[in-house]
Amino acid sequence: MNPRKEPKINLFKKSNPLPCKVLENVQLTPNPGEGKRPVKEGHAVINRIKLQLDHEKYPYIIGQSAGVIPPGEDPAKVAKGSENTAYTVRLYSISSPTYGLDKKEDTIEFIIKRDNSYDSEGNVTHRGVASNYICDLKPGDLVNLTGPSGKNFLLPTESFSGDIYLFATGTGIAPFYGMVYELLEHKVIQFTGKLTLVYGAPYSDEIVLKDEFEDLDKKHDNFRFIKAVSREEKNPFDGGKMYISHRLKELGSALKTSMENQGKIYICGGPKGMEEGLLKELQIIMGTSGDLKEFQKELEEKNQLYVETY
Ligand code: FAD
Ligand code: A2P
Repeated sequence: MNPRKEPKINLFKKSNPLPCKVLENVQLTPNPGEGKRPVKEGHAVINRIKLQLDHEKYPYIIGQSAGVIPPGEDPAKVAKGSENTAYTVRLYSISSPTYGLDKKEDTIEFIIKRDNSYDSEGNVTHRGVASNYICDLKPGDLVNLTGPSGKNFLLPTESFSGDIYLFATGTGIAPFYGMVYELLEHKVIQFTGKLTLVYGAPYSDEIVLKDEFEDLDKKHDNFRFIKAVSREEKNPFDGGKMYISHRLKELGSALKTSMENQGKIYICGGPKGMEEGLLKELQIIMGTSGDLKEFQKELEEKNQLYVETY
């Protein structure tokens, strides 16, 4: 049975979360001050976290997210005198393929960045509550999950011969990691199109799991891995930062042909609204004009566009 046909959602809520044991928590980026990022730009620490999870209880599908409940009381709610002072749930994209990375149905993985704020000298001014809680977890610790969440940002459920384009910035790579494995290695559906992953990050050492993507690029003739390193590379169009929207522009007529033949585009990551730059370039490539939101809606209704930006 193909589980993607019936995604299960909200099996676990804030009132009845699923406690899961941490199996691994590994930092994927250099320590602050040791990578390419100048100290005054703050930190960019991204971890990969693996939890033990019974798929029978929590039958997730790649493309869905899970909620994490940080423990403790939210000081803002306490100050307001709220009755319920628990933290709100934060969503994280599931990064492991539908059956887990090693196809054993007992794990779930995430790719999470410590979401802090910094002053102009790179000093931390605020530590993101949930992301730091998760990145600090140790093997054996328990974490409460809600979900699964979401039933739109999903791969095709039937065999698919069109091309698929995945555009990620930052931690937007999380769902695409699992999708790439699922399409190329696990073959949950028969996929005979071409798969292109475009991954944007500020510095080359913040492109996480790069070696794996490069190995898959070498191994599979129908997979291409393209990077956009905004603070190291210049785009050929105006000499400014290299963004994933510039990479989309470079794909040009090949992308147009794909979209005319049922191709699909997935966009994930931040900053919120970054899809606009991509869709503007897509409009030019497709030779269309008009309201961008309408263009987006039409493609979404035709199941050719999936956007999850935050
Ligand atoms: P919060 O404490 O909620 O703070 C949010 C931001 O505001 C931080 O940058 C924080 O520094 C800043 N801030 C808050 N208060 C102050 C203050 N008083 N002064 C200055 N700055 C302040 N994230 C991932 O890392 N990986 C994913 O795969 C992922 N997937 C997502 C999927 C979806 C569908 C959505 C909606 C979001 C996803 N996110 C993901 C983002 C994630 O949900 C959280 O929003 C993120 O981790 C920040 O949560 P936090 O509790 O750490 O930060
Ligand atoms: P930059 O921050 O150099 O302007 P992260 O989430 O790790 O910060 O990565 C987000 C990546 O997306 C960065 O390389 C960032 O570049 C880039 N970026 C920022 N705004 C946009 C946008 N509107 N379109 C595409 N990429 C963007």
